[in-house]
Amino acid sequence: MIITIASGKGGVGKSNFVANLGLCLSDFGVDTLIVDGNLSNGDLSCILGPPFPERTIHDIFSEGISFEDAVFSHPAGVKMVASSLALEDVEAIPPQNLWKVRTQLSKSADIVLVDAPGTLGSNTLETLKIADRVILITTPEITSFSNTLKTKMVADKNGIEIFGTVLNKVRKNEKRMRRIAKEWLGTPLLCSLPYDSNVIKSSEYGRAVLRHKPRSAYSVGIRKFGAKLANVTYKAGRRKKLK
Ligand SMILES: Nc1ncnc2c1ncn2[C@@H]1O[C@H](COP(=O)(O)OP(=O)(O)O)[C@@H](O)[C@H]1O
Ligand SMILES: [Mg+2]
Repeated sequence: MIITIASGKGGVGKSNFVANLGLCLSDFGVDTLIVDGNLSNGDLSCILGPPFPERTIHDIFSEGISFEDAVFSHPAGVKMVASSLALEDVEAIPPQNLWKVRTQLSKSADIVLVDAPGTLGSNTLETLKIADRVILITTPEITSFSNTLKTKMVADKNGIEIFGTVLNKVRKNEKRMRRIAKEWLGTPLLCSLPYDSNVIKSSEYGRAVLRHKPRSAYSVGIRKFGAKLANVTYKAGRRKKLK
């Protein structure tokens, strides 16, 4: 199943969510692939840190490498298809190419998480079109709700099922914003992830927060949501390694 993570606004936490949820689902034993659907600013390699994949999704289209050769097993613990970080590659590949690999994507893992760009352009539309389901992610701010609503409308127009919304960077006492998010977006609220400076700190060390600070509030939140998605039991606070 291909699940695209979209928002309509940059900086709300899509790429970190995809990278960390991908790691978490793999830990739970789910065959998972994470994909840079953002063909101009793919951030997944930077979030997972080195080693960086030698082959990217761009190489499939520009050099004709096979899809399988673009899949990189990151030693952090998840399979990924990364986007090229080179400007010349980015300019050469139109996002409509994503559709050409849709079948291979859906066959490559049980859950494929696609990281969408933060703007409502053609690249976002292509990431929505290849999805079986969409998870919207928003921060508890009106501008974020309003931009995310537009993305939802585009998904609706294209007949793509919205799985629900994730509220990210939630601080204490934001019950009111949770209610407003539900009202504005009219989708189930899948989870609330806390504002956690460990997410930003981890990037200083070139590691995903789930690996760098596995017991941080954000990592626990991701694991709780991942467990629901994977249909496994997870108790926060257990010191036992999950895998
Ligand atoms: N829950 C969180 N708490 C604190 N900072 C976060 C959280 N989620 C993401 N961030 C930070 O917000 C910024 C944008 O995150 P990113 O995942 O790149 O968003 P997007 O992909 O939507 O542009 C990064 O600096 C990241 O470290
Ligand atoms: Mg991003």
